[in-house]
Amino acid sequence: MATSTWLITGSSRGLGLEIVRQLIRSPANLVIATCRNPAAATALQALRGDSKGPLHVVPLDVSDPDSIRSSVKTVEDILGDQGLDYLYNNAGISPGIEPAFDFEYSDLLETLKINIAAPALISQVYLPLVEKSNRKVIINVSSGLGSIGLDRGSVYSAYSVTKAGLNMLTYKQAKAKPDLIVITLAPGWTKTGEYMGGPNAVLEPYQSVEGQLKVVTGLTPQDSGKFFDYTGEILPW
Ligand SMILES: NC(=O)c1ccc[n+]([C@@H]2O[C@H](COP(=O)([O-])OP(=O)(O)OC[C@H]3O[C@@H](n4cnc5c(N)ncnc54)[C@H](OP(=O)(O)O)[C@@H]3O)[C@@H](O)[C@H]2O)c1
Repeated sequence: MATSTWLITGSSRGLGLEIVRQLIRSPANLVIATCRNPAAATALQALRGDSKGPLHVVPLDVSDPDSIRSSVKTVEDILGDQGLDYLYNNAGISPGIEPAFDFEYSDLLETLKINIAAPALISQVYLPLVEKSNRKVIINVSSGLGSIGLDRGSVYSAYSVTKAGLNMLTYKQAKAKPDLIVITLAPGWTKTGEYMGGPNAVLEPYQSVEGQLKVVTGLTPQDSGKFFDYTGEILPW
């Protein structure tokens, strides 16, 4: 039996793929890597041969409530008697750099759906499995752009609004369930997708994820409801 069980959303590429890559190095981890199209997730599928412990690839389109709900049964079958120690709400989108008076309404709605509504519903439907686990950790992957206190300026407005909302969701989840450890986590500016990190970012995915996993595996109940960055620093709301 694995020591720790993990579910990661958006693991086809970018930070999610790197989270899976680092977790599968330990035979103690049972990793459920989810993505919207497993057949097209070639980099993720290629990791199967490298895994020291169980690695399962499960379809989960976070924009689709039916996909979210139906994934639970598949995950329950994989876990058997075990709960889910770490629920990693990593999937996210950014529609672009537009300031607040310029973004497209439809882009904002889609970004709200993926970056807030999806992790909210995923956390709801996976709650029984998380509560059944030893660690009971939910990680909502946010961004420094979701902080008002960091004063990051006018751009990336739609994206920033959604990550600020995700931070509030985290606070509410932590207050509602004191038996859990729920955090919001900024991965740092990392070289991933075009409107996400992009090529000019300062961190390689492995650097962000090494930090993230150190933070996440070291969490204690006192950390619940807090906004961390990948180095373990507490960020201002
Ligand atoms: N990179 C940075 O500098 C940075 C900074 C701050 C915060 N973040 C946050 O870190 C997280 C990961 O971002 P990233 O940098 O790895 O971005 P990325 O390279 O653009 O990857 C995004 C991931 O989300 C997945 N995704 C998007 N829509 C989805 C859907 N409907 N269902 C399932 N998966 C979906 C993508 O899957 P597909 O391959 O199917 O599109 C992809 O695996 C996001 O929450 C992001 O906001 C990143």
